Amino acid sequence: MSINRTALNLPDEDYETIKANFEALYHNHPEIYDVFATQQITQSELLDQIEQTLKDNGIESGDFLDIGCGTGAMIAHLAPRLPKINFIGIDPARNSLELAKQKCAGYTNTTFRSGTIEQLERTENAFDVVFSSWGHIHWNEKGGIMEYVAKPDGLAMLVNNWGEEDDFSKLWPESALTIHKTRREILQKNHYQVSNVVSEVNLEDENLFDAMSRLFGQRQMHEHRTSPFQIGIVLAWKKITV
Ligand SMILES: C[S@@+](CC[C@H](N)C(=O)[O-])C[C@H]1O[C@@H](n2cnc3c(N)ncnc32)[C@H](O)[C@@H]1O
Repeated sequence: MSINRTALNLPDEDYETIKANFEALYHNHPEIYDVFATQQITQSELLDQIEQTLKDNGIESGDFLDIGCGTGAMIAHLAPRLPKINFIGIDPARNSLELAKQKCAGYTNTTFRSGTIEQLERTENAFDVVFSSWGHIHWNEKGGIMEYVAKPDGLAMLVNNWGEEDDFSKLWPESALTIHKTRREILQKNHYQVSNVVSEVNLEDENLFDAMSRLFGQRQMHEHRTSPFQIGIVLAWKKITV
């Protein structure tokens, strides 16, 4: 994948603004966010792992809801791979959504609409797959909405950078990690099965490495000049009948 160098080559003060307010990134600089997201998605095993997880759970068609779809980084890659699945992306950031629509204009199995996870509270048992990648730190920590909107035999999936020992636990605030762990505990308590799949990416591209260092700190990123960066964990679950 070619890296969009213009998008990453920002003045220092822009990176300071982004660090201070990550929401601003989704609203004001979706093209930058899209470069990061696309890089993580395409340079790792993540897409194969998601496809395999769907297959392992017998999901070949149906409705796939992507909550907090952002710039459509995931849907843009999954839609052509899984043409029998109907992808629906929701996100509150208007400019991110516009980019998502543009990117997916050629795929008839995609729809995007403005919305938040909170607005799904009255939608029950509606989707075969309820998915979110790098989204749920923005939501309430009790969670439960993803499982609620999934069909009883449906699947819910989280893609994230937080495992037990991984890098993002050092990069993001403790609260984000706690939200992730709490959600896992709630799921397990409610008889969902949870599994982890780890993906890794090499940060060989000088420009991307530089941009990530400016966002997340030179010290944290430096070790990934030589060792792979853990970028994704798929937590997939289906309710276990008890
Ligand atoms: C880190 S980005 C992830 C984007 C996308 N899922 C991806 O993989 O590239 C987080 C996204 O969550 C969205 N978001 C924030 N609050 C939300 C909410 N309450 N409900 C749904 N999405 C939300 C943001 O607008 C942003 O696009």
